[in-house]
Amino acid sequence: MIFRKKKDELILDRNRLPRHIAFIMDGNGRWAKKRGLPRTAGHHEGGKALLKVLKKCNELGIEAITVFAFSTENWSRPKEEVEYLMKLPNQYIKTYLPKIKEANIKMNFIGFLDVLPEEMKENIRLAMQETKNNTGMIFTIALNYGAQDEILYAVKQIAREYHEGNITLEDITKEYFEKKLFTNDLPPIDFMVRTSGELRISNFLLWQIAYSELYFVPKLWPDFNEKELRKALIAYQKRKRRFGGIEGV
Ligand code: IPE
Ligand code: IPE
Ligand code: MG
Repeated sequence: MIFRKKKDELILDRNRLPRHIAFIMDGNGRWAKKRGLPRTAGHHEGGKALLKVLKKCNELGIEAITVFAFSTENWSRPKEEVEYLMKLPNQYIKTYLPKIKEANIKMNFIGFLDVLPEEMKENIRLAMQETKNNTGMIFTIALNYGAQDEILYAVKQIAREYHEGNITLEDITKEYFEKKLFTNDLPPIDFMVRTSGELRISNFLLWQIAYSELYFVPKLWPDFNEKELRKALIAYQKRKRRFGGIEGV
């Protein structure tokens, strides 16, 4: 065990870590089912896994992490599950905000937040207000987020600006478009991780991952821990990012 740890320490190059990691935290329901527990127990456990990942990423000096907590499609789940998921961020913020604040982490939220329950919106405001002067890692939670709707929302803003004569067609560059996305003030996503073995993106950050490295792992989210994160980061460091070019040129 000791040797293994030492070897891993050697392999993980702290100077070549991704700036921004996105996590699709999937598999909470299956984790609970395997144990004969209600799906909500899996979501509770998933919250604990998130805290571990958050701490480790912050310790490593990662600039930003963004996690998928509730998608625009997740409203189609049974009422009780949706209700539980709408309460979970409140509990999370209440329990962990002091620790997050102390760790110099800045909290951020993306998604169509207006339609979320009032209590959640209050907690979101509180979390952002309390951590707004923090200068460490940016921790973004995606709630009621869907990439296709995000893109349409950006398109509509730009169409309105064009229609009102405030911009010309030439103004609509990639950079201009990106400014209209929820992620406009975040670093580019270098690495996207999905747990639970599903090999899909499920409408998360579609524009933003054009050149991200993707990593799929069979572990269910509640079982994703520091060791799994380290494995993922080592895998990332083995990738050769070419961005359409040729290596070394
Ligand atoms: C991910 O776990 C959490 C959310 C989507 C909120 P799931 O609830 O999707 O768990 P599985 O995929 O059914 O196991
Ligand atoms: C993606 O997981 C959304 C979140 C992790 C919040 P889902 O479980 O909703 O995705 P699908 O249905 O398997 O594609
Ligand atoms: Mg799932």
